[in-house]
Amino acid sequence: MLQKPRGTRDFLPDEMEARRATEWRMREVARRWGYREVCTPEFEDLELFTMRSGEGIVEEMYVFEDKGGRKLALRPEITAAVVRMYINEAKVAPKPLRWCYFADCFRYERPQKGRYRQFWQFGVELIGADTAAADAEVIMLAADMLNATGVRYELKVGHLSFMKNLLKDLEPPAQRRVMAHIDKKDFDGLTDALRTMEKPELADSLVALIGSGDLADAFEIAGQVSGKDRIEQTISTLDAAGVRYSLNFGIARGLDYYTGTVFEAFADNLGAENQILGGGTYRLAHLFGGDDTASCGFAIGFDRVMVSLGEVRQKKDTIISIVCTEDGRKRALEVARAFRDSGIRTEMDLMERGLGAQLAHASKSADFAVVIGKREVESGEVTIKDLKSGEQKTIGLKAAIAGVVALGSR
Ligand code: HAM
Repeated sequence: MLQKPRGTRDFLPDEMEARRATEWRMREVARRWGYREVCTPEFEDLELFTMRSGEGIVEEMYVFEDKGGRKLALRPEITAAVVRMYINEAKVAPKPLRWCYFADCFRYERPQKGRYRQFWQFGVELIGADTAAADAEVIMLAADMLNATGVRYELKVGHLSFMKNLLKDLEPPAQRRVMAHIDKKDFDGLTDALRTMEKPELADSLVALIGSGDLADAFEIAGQVSGKDRIEQTISTLDAAGVRYSLNFGIARGLDYYTGTVFEAFADNLGAENQILGGGTYRLAHLFGGDDTASCGFAIGFDRVMVSLGEVRQKKDTIISIVCTEDGRKRALEVARAFRDSGIRTEMDLMERGLGAQLAHASKSADFAVVIGKREVESGEVTIKDLKSGEQKTIGLKAAIAGVVALGSR
């Protein structure tokens, strides 16, 4: 028997319904904040991701050569593609641009619960605004979107200036190496790396910075960092808006394009793979042939949100099964149409079963059976049977539909 590729998943209807319901909650929040959906290709020129996404991601990429000899990659994330698209298609559009996406990404990682080789991100990118208000808006939107899903999480907000100030004597590649260890919380690796770089004394300040959750302490540890006013303004906007977050100056982010504010969210009830959101301010446009453009965005790890929501049952559709005798079939089709036109999920027998067998099947697959026999054809009414309680009544079609619609809105 053939199996799906490692690290991928199949989704059965129950799961797809739950996923779509959560996806739509996120979409609705994005819409209310004025973020409009964009879509980019599933694969891009490899170079788009090797330029600035960072070593970690590059190592995990699915890379292939097409028949024309072009080096391509399945997208490991979507930010770089959105910025490329902005330069190609919307460079002259009025700023800021508020864009969002819901799309799959591919990373060749070691699969485990919450870590897949194909996974979905719900992301937003705010392009062309370089202010504390912009940074704060994106963080507020992140919190709103997670709140809408019902997931329980902790939001951590930080700023790269502090860490970068401590590492300012290191060359950029060495800085990135140090930050990659911090991102992975690999403190032994960090100590070794600093020793190799002949900067072992940095370990204490870095550890103090990572452990500090207070702005004044962070300034004390890291010295006068650039963008102090903006950091303070961002934080006071979040406080004024009542966003629940904690400060964390140990956030290093795994991708290399971040420039200032960074934030991550962690689900309360997941194990090792509990990061459900990551984002921050970044600059990529100038690397792809555009003007230097400040941007800020985040992506939610949709699959992890779904794992975290876990057993929380999503409200299910009420299902109607139309059960009919052969001479009731024509009327049954009209009745089914009327239920469907009212937005009710309605199924009909396709197996040429007798009335009894149809009812037996309905009791396994539906909430109500609507019976159309000779009597119902003659009277124009329907017999509606609650398949859980066994209760049934013969009433007008409109009344039957109104009853089911009322159930749905409870
Ligand atoms: P990222 O932190 O690499 O950031 O990914 C965002 C989220 O995607 C993670 O927090 C995690 O929840 C989820 N994720 C990552 N890898 C996997 C995986 N293998 N399986 C399941 N979920 C995963 C970005 O991708 C940036 N583009 C975010 C961003 C947007 N920054 C600015 N704008």
